[in-house]
Amino acid sequence: MKVLVTGGAGYIGSHTCVELLNVGYDLVVFDNFSNSTPEVLKRIEKITGKSILFINGDIRDEDAIEKALFGCDAVIHFAGLKAVGESVEKPLEYYDVNVYGTLCLVRVMQKLHVRKLVFSSSATVYGDPEFLPFTEEHPLRTTNPYAQTKLVIEEMLRNLYVSDQTWRIMILRYFNPVGAHESGLIGEDPKGTPNNLMPYIAQVAVGKREKVSVFGDNYPTKDGTGIRDYIHVVDLALGHVKALQTINKPQCTAINLGSGKGYSVLDVIHAFSKACGKNVSYMIVPRRAGDIAEFYSDPTLAKEMLSWEAKRNLDAMCTDMWNFQVKNPKGYV
Ligand code: NAD
Ligand code: UFG
Repeated sequence: MKVLVTGGAGYIGSHTCVELLNVGYDLVVFDNFSNSTPEVLKRIEKITGKSILFINGDIRDEDAIEKALFGCDAVIHFAGLKAVGESVEKPLEYYDVNVYGTLCLVRVMQKLHVRKLVFSSSATVYGDPEFLPFTEEHPLRTTNPYAQTKLVIEEMLRNLYVSDQTWRIMILRYFNPVGAHESGLIGEDPKGTPNNLMPYIAQVAVGKREKVSVFGDNYPTKDGTGIRDYIHVVDLALGHVKALQTINKPQCTAINLGSGKGYSVLDVIHAFSKACGKNVSYMIVPRRAGDIAEFYSDPTLAKEMLSWEAKRNLDAMCTDMWNFQVKNPKGYV
């Protein structure tokens, strides 16, 4: 089976390409490298010993998508913009790439009669928790433009399925992806200052930055810092393989991909310190605007529908992240 992977050079996409190649899928990767580099593709080939077909294109270019999609049986759609803060400053860009880009992709899929789609959504569609853990039935309400683009796309896909029930769509709602491939060849390489906790910690540990700023220690949590459901990126990648293998009948289903466990910011800093063998310095600073105190998944549906569950623990996430950071102190450059 041949699969089109949009955004396949990115963080989650590259790890998913490795796992798809490992189980024998043929791949076409479609990316414009706006947040990645061609070096990633070489490294995927090095890890797997297999080659991938690559098309450099923009997800808003239907002609380019058509060329890439020709002969494919399914699509995994990662391409998009993902920085919450940037989405507040540039909402139109986020609607353009995320919403309009997905519209273009789905239109071409419709034209070429490709009906299998796995879409990258996010736990951010749940907004402020009404109850925890988040099940897929939790109300959807968003608090920033990035999250809103994910919600609009989800609704568009549900509407599409109602109009044509030959579609096989899985919407995967990721919790907090971290870690790297155990080879240390691929991992997360954020441009500029990292927005997310784990890449920031890794850069402090390697000496690139001085201290982690812990955003608030007065949340109603066990140690006052924010709690999240961290998931190893390789487990997340394996979830996509399961989704592709399972999506054999018409549906449009949203599924959480998380571990079901919550860890605080201080838990993560301590686990990382253990993994890298030195104390990661931090200081408490005021809360970050818009942050939620605590959220984590109920991963039951993924277990039932995909026979999938996260296996790698927080120590493995930190060890693999550190290994990538040490082997690539300047990222992919
Ligand atoms: P990433 O930025 O590493 O990967 C996205 C890839 O898409 C990049 O290689 C980028 O170059 C490409 N891309 C961006 N705009 C494009 C365009 N217009 N045309 C073609 N390619 C384009 O991000 P990631 O962390 O791998 O995230 C992948 C997907 O998962 C995104 O849709 C993101 O919103 C979603 N997601 C990520 C997280 C997270 O914390 N990383 C959490 C939930 C959901
Ligand atoms: N945090 C710090 N210091 C930092 C960065 C983060 O204390 O320098 C804290 C945050 O306040 C939060 C926790 O660490 O309590 C995790 O923050 P991240 O920025 O790593 O992750 P978020 O949960 O805020 O958001 C991420 C992605 C979203 C996605 C969401 C759920 O950025 O796009 O996970 O998947 F929607």
